[in-house]
Amino acid sequence: MSTTGHELFIAPSILSADFTRLAEEIQMIEDAGADWVHVDVMDGHFVPNLTIGPPVVKALKRVVRKPLDVHLMVEDPDRTAEWYVDAGADMVTVHVEASAHIGRTVEAIRRGGASPGVTLNPGTPASEVREVLPLVDLVLVMSVNPGFGGQAFIETSVAKVAEIRAMCREMGVEPRLEVDGGIDCTTAPLVVSAGADTLVAGNAIFGAEDPAAALRQIRRCAAAGLV
Ligand code: DX5
Ligand code: ZN
Repeated sequence: MSTTGHELFIAPSILSADFTRLAEEIQMIEDAGADWVHVDVMDGHFVPNLTIGPPVVKALKRVVRKPLDVHLMVEDPDRTAEWYVDAGADMVTVHVEASAHIGRTVEAIRRGGASPGVTLNPGTPASEVREVLPLVDLVLVMSVNPGFGGQAFIETSVAKVAEIRAMCREMGVEPRLEVDGGIDCTTAPLVVSAGADTLVAGNAIFGAEDPAAALRQIRRCAAAGLV
C-alpha cells in the first residue's frame, strides 16, 4: 500500500513498444502484472511529436484487458477529450496548460463515463492544479517535458509530487498520484516516497531485453520507496 492509501500501480507506456506488434507487446506486459496500459496521444502541436488518435485507442480497447490510461498531449482537449472517452479510454488525462476551462473538461470526461485526470508540465507550478483536485480521480506529474520516450528524469519533480500530495491531504481528497517520464529503478523509489502511487514507464520496460522482468523489477524498486 502506498502513502496515499492506494495500491502501487505500474502503467507501462506503449510509446516505447513495437508499434507493429502492439497487441503482443501489451499481452506480454499484462501477463507480467501491468495494472494499467498508458497510451500517449500527441498531436504535433502541444508537443513536437505525433502518435496515435481515437481509431487506435478504439482498436486497443478490443485487445487490452487492463484499464486504458490515456494521456492527452493535445492543443485543444476541451474539444477532443470526448473522442477518447467514446473510443473506450478508462482514464482520460488532460494538461492544465492546454485547457481554457479545465473544470468543465474534467466534468465532461466523467459525464461521458471515464475517470478524469489532470496533468502538468515540469515548468508548471503545483498550484495550477489545486482548484481541480476535488474533481479528478488522477493527478499526473510530468517528470520530463512531454513529447518523447527515453528522456532523463527531472529531479525537481520529486518535490512537486510531495507538494501535490500535501495539497490533497489538506483538501481531504485522494486522487491517484501518477508520475510519467524517466521512471526506472533509481527514480521510482524517490517519487513513491514523495507520495506517488502510480508509475508510468516506457523505455525502462519496452527498451529492456526482457520487458516482463523489467516491469517486475521496477515494482520491487518502487516498493522500496514505501519503507
Ligand atoms: C512522454 C510520455 C511518456 C513517455 C514516458 O511525453 O508522456 O508517457 O512514454 O517514457 P519514458 O518512461 O521512456 O520516459
Ligand atoms: Zn504519458
